Amino acid sequence: MFNLILFGPPGSGKGTQSEKLIAKYGLKHLSTGDLLRSEIAQQTPLGIEAKKIMDKGQLVPDEVVIGMISSSLDANPDAKGFLFDGFPRTAAQAEALDKLLKLKKTEIKVMLALEVGEEELVRRLLKRGETSSRSDDTNETVIRARIAVYHSKTTAVAEYYKSFDKAVYLKGEGTVDEIFERISAEIDTRL
Ligand code: AP5
Repeated sequence: MFNLILFGPPGSGKGTQSEKLIAKYGLKHLSTGDLLRSEIAQQTPLGIEAKKIMDKGQLVPDEVVIGMISSSLDANPDAKGFLFDGFPRTAAQAEALDKLLKLKKTEIKVMLALEVGEEELVRRLLKRGETSSRSDDTNETVIRARIAVYHSKTTAVAEYYKSFDKAVYLKGEGTVDEIFERISAEIDTRL
């Protein structure tokens, strides 16, 4: 099984690159952001609570997203591997993911981190906010809050994988295809 984490701040291109990567490598895409937005669209109690938090640019509680990932792993017993996008986002989530994967006798092979400057992130997200239905993209204050949460809580995840020598940093600026080539080259050396 080949499991990888695509890591990076909001707007760094995780979702964009994930779509191309799952097509090329046949991995199952697990995005906690997409899972939460699906709950919001169905107006479930979880979705209604999550939306209030997401609209402020804050993180949904660890136990909620860990539960979602646990169910998704169980629901895909035949997956060749998983591509985690937007998860883990705290050190506690990273530790929980390791435990869940260990139960399935597998592990994270590599964490690929996309590096993009803050002004470029804000530009990309505001641009998407002009046309998308994502309410957390329409307001610059919320976008900057999401980036601040990334620095205060999520960079710890990269440190966690660095301690196991599994963190690789890649330039996340350039064209989508150039970045895809960089990511693919890193994956190909580890398959
Ligand atoms: P989530 O859905 O994970 O969003 P995010 O991390 O804020 O990331 P984005 O989806 O906005 O960006 P991305 O890196 O995927 O970039 P994308 O490819 O979309 O999380 C949303 C919220 O849910 C969180 O704030 C939190 O509240 C909650 N949540 C989710 N997971 C959680 C967890 N594990 N724990 C707790 N809470 C959680 O690209 C962005 C834009 O840039 C697009 O318009 C794209 O077309 C454009 N773009 C992409 N690549 C390029 C390029 N190379 N050049 C120019 N533009 C580009």
